[in-house]
Amino acid sequence: MLRRPRRNRKSEAVRNLVEETQLSVKDLIFPMFLVEGNNQKIEVASMPGIYRFSTDLMLKEIEECLKLGITAVDVFPAYPESKKDKIASESYNPETFYLKALREIKKNFPELCLMSDVAMDPYSSDGHDGLVREGRILNDETLEILSKMSLAQADAGVDILGPSDMMDGRVGYIREALDQNGFTDTSIMSYTAKYASAFYGPFRDALDSAPKFGDKKTYQMNPANSQEALIEADLDMEEGADFLMVKPALSYLDIIKLLSDNYPLPIAAYNVSGEYSMIKASAERGWIDGERAMVEMLTSIKRSGAKIILTYFAKEFASLQK
Ligand code: PBG
Repeated sequence: MLRRPRRNRKSEAVRNLVEETQLSVKDLIFPMFLVEGNNQKIEVASMPGIYRFSTDLMLKEIEECLKLGITAVDVFPAYPESKKDKIASESYNPETFYLKALREIKKNFPELCLMSDVAMDPYSSDGHDGLVREGRILNDETLEILSKMSLAQADAGVDILGPSDMMDGRVGYIREALDQNGFTDTSIMSYTAKYASAFYGPFRDALDSAPKFGDKKTYQMNPANSQEALIEADLDMEEGADFLMVKPALSYLDIIKLLSDNYPLPIAAYNVSGEYSMIKASAERGWIDGERAMVEMLTSIKRSGAKIILTYFAKEFASLQK
């Protein structure tokens, strides 16, 4: 046998030399959940180890994350039903706790890369990402609301906006609004290929944001399709997105590879709530080695072409490196 591939696996030192994919804390964005109030730290039942924080405790948590080397976080707000309405008006109310918290975070940690979420669902009494009329999700009417929300978040000091709504034309619409208002340095990480996925379940628990009727299949993509991801990526590229994101990650590694092979923009992947919970739940039962499964999963996402990974494992992974 001339070729013995096992020779390149014979020791840790040799394995290190031939290792192609290196995962770094610098690649990670930590998604965090925010609630109104003070001194609140409430564990999300379906996401062990993940909490909803009030602003004061979130600041402490971010400080800890920075010490661990995490330099980017994505903050999602959980609103009570009483603050929701048809048009998500709370999303651009300058006095709302989410915008105040973003401002506070940026003031305390100017070096942190702060990302936010642009979509109507946390503020919508319909629980949808777009405006609902007679049971239908309206595209163009939603854009105006998304752009107001984006301007409010940019004004609060956000570095990267994350439109997660999947309305057509939103990246261009938001980019134009930002530029016209002087926010030329505010970046857009577009949720380019966001699929209608069962893996968002725990996230919707965390935010109480599940749709009140129907599903999200008229705007989020069909898990059976990959060609559409190219159309979405073309549009986002033309419309001025700075990053392209694929979501979820694990069941969509082929889509991550497809976009990274075809687009020069940095590709991000969202390792979503259900992917986190699957590992946590089976590890709690002793069915799987949670730590190894986490590293293997994150490595596979990076190997498939994602430069950036949004993951609830960010803090745990960072703690391992210390
Ligand atoms: C909503 C949004 C969702 C997630 C991020 N932004 C849920 C959805 O589309 O229903 C999911 C994140 C996760 O599951 O971790 N615009």
